[in-house]
Amino acid sequence: MAHVELKSVTKTYPNGAVAVNDLNLEIATGEFLCVLGPSGCGKSSTLRMIAGLEEISHGQILIDGQNVVGKPARERDIAMVFENYALYPHLNVFNNVAMPLVARRTDKQEINDRVTRIAEMLDITEHLEKRPGKLSGGQRQRVSLARAMIRRPAMFLMDEPLGHLEEYLRIELRREIRALHESTGGTTCYITHDQQEAAAVSDRIAVMSAGELQQVGTMHDLINKPVNRFVAEFVGETPISILEDVSFADGRLTIGDYAIGLNEQAAAACAATPPATVGIRPADFVLGDADATGLSAVAESVQPMGETAIVLCKTACGPATVLLDQVDLPSEGESVRLAVDPDNLHLFGPDGLNIMYQGS
Ligand SMILES: Nc1ncnc2c1ncn2[C@@H]1O[C@H](COP(=O)(O)OP(=O)(O)O)[C@@H](O)[C@H]1O
Ligand SMILES: [Mg+2]
Repeated sequence: MAHVELKSVTKTYPNGAVAVNDLNLEIATGEFLCVLGPSGCGKSSTLRMIAGLEEISHGQILIDGQNVVGKPARERDIAMVFENYALYPHLNVFNNVAMPLVARRTDKQEINDRVTRIAEMLDITEHLEKRPGKLSGGQRQRVSLARAMIRRPAMFLMDEPLGHLEEYLRIELRREIRALHESTGGTTCYITHDQQEAAAVSDRIAVMSAGELQQVGTMHDLINKPVNRFVAEFVGETPISILEDVSFADGRLTIGDYAIGLNEQAAAACAATPPATVGIRPADFVLGDADATGLSAVAESVQPMGETAIVLCKTACGPATVLLDQVDLPSEGESVRLAVDPDNLHLFGPDGLNIMYQGS
């Protein structure tokens, strides 16, 4: 088990690309931390620096309190899993899985026992004699996981390990990865660009954008207390609506033609920093008919999705995405009003920061 600290870590590649900028991040002993962010935001560079596969340009990485900068990967007691398996094609599954133990000159009987056990856990026993070329993508990734987890390293580093598997396999393997993490008791840092996957496997999620850490927290924190517009817009199954034409006076927020009384804390924050935009999650809109209280809107498109429906609305403050139960759907073209509980407002200043959580 390892405790990992990144202090002001920056990675600049020789061509001048700044992949990671001043990253401060702590991974607790035994924690499962996901790094979530769009392609190119610096996730892999971060992981490779923790692994010792990439030099860091500035800052420090501490593992169990020791600065590991300059320490080669093989001395860091880390097991990695990548998206593209990285199996030895000429070795059978047994020997691929056994490789980390063979490399450490483990006793033959013990190798046999451990390969047998991990193969059972990952349901690859019947494939032990086959070469990787004979296996499906899902089976190959199980072999990679088995190989990584056959030891009990201090840390597991996984870079989009389920990246190109089919949906049903991803869901199944998520559960197994989480179970293996718990049974081995290691510290895991897991990269994904899939927020559902991040929520399913992790204890906490670190959101990155353009080389910079945006926020670290549980999925619940990211959804309910996004620190800035990037997190608010990136996290959430159906995207949040950002409305403009927002002003604040006398404890009330005005969004277009809708005035709403704020709670004390929000009013104090607005008095300190006038909000420029407001974010509202699709499920937080309360739909009323044209003479109800709320922001005037027109339901432009109604998309039934089984148990719920998405209604895309046009308002004077910008488009609004509303998630509704299937009952009482408006018809397309109908004038409606959109209201919201003040506790469900996300208030952003002109710089895009959430005015309620600045400095947190
Ligand atoms: N070896 C490299 N040389 C130059 N630029 C790189 C190299 N590796 C990554 N980058 C750049 O650094 C940024 C972050 O890349 P990466 O860490 O791979 O992001 P992610 O894993 O989030 O997709 C990208 O702009 C990418 O083009
Ligand atoms: Mg990557």
